[in-house]
Amino acid sequence: MPAKTNLRVLVPADQIQKRILELGTQIARDFPEGPLCLVCILKGAFMFMADLSRAIDRHARCEFIGISSYGKEKSSSGEVRLTKDLDSSIEGANVLVVEDIVDTGITLTYLIHVLSQRRPRSIRIAALLDKPSRRMRPIKVDYCGFEIPDEFVVGYGLDYAEDYRNLKDICVLED
Ligand code: IMP
Ligand code: MG
Repeated sequence: MPAKTNLRVLVPADQIQKRILELGTQIARDFPEGPLCLVCILKGAFMFMADLSRAIDRHARCEFIGISSYGKEKSSSGEVRLTKDLDSSIEGANVLVVEDIVDTGITLTYLIHVLSQRRPRSIRIAALLDKPSRRMRPIKVDYCGFEIPDEFVVGYGLDYAEDYRNLKDICVLED
């Protein structure tokens, strides 16, 4: 079991929940009609997806896609791979990609490319966290929970080598 002594709370659980309610209200207002499909990027966004989808007070489908870009390291390998595809078509749908954190932007650049070939009506991005200082590809986050500095974070779905996902706060993992 990993030690917990090197964790520092960056965004506490109550602040996460408060911000997600704001995002959900804004999203429900921005997507007035037509099919809305929330696409959760596994595994990191699973908790954000669960809370955000309940904060969006309108009909929406929930889909899940698996993407792997990191091994057991703290920085991107630069390689992106589809590990699980969507179960249904997104043709004609307004798609909201639900991501845990945008770092270099490599993962989302790849995913947006894959999804746009399936002829959705629109694609927007909701990310709980954004580290804009690390960006290598131009990705615009339409709905951002929190901008954070260049620190490695875990909890609320985010992992380090598959650990810490079930923490309720977002914490900095210090060396
Ligand atoms: P990008 O392709 O560099 O934008 O990386 C995005 C993915 O890297 C995210 O979906 C996360 O899975 C992972 N990632 C980036 N930064 C962190 C972090 O600070 N903690 C945990 N995972 C991270
Ligand atoms: Mg991720």
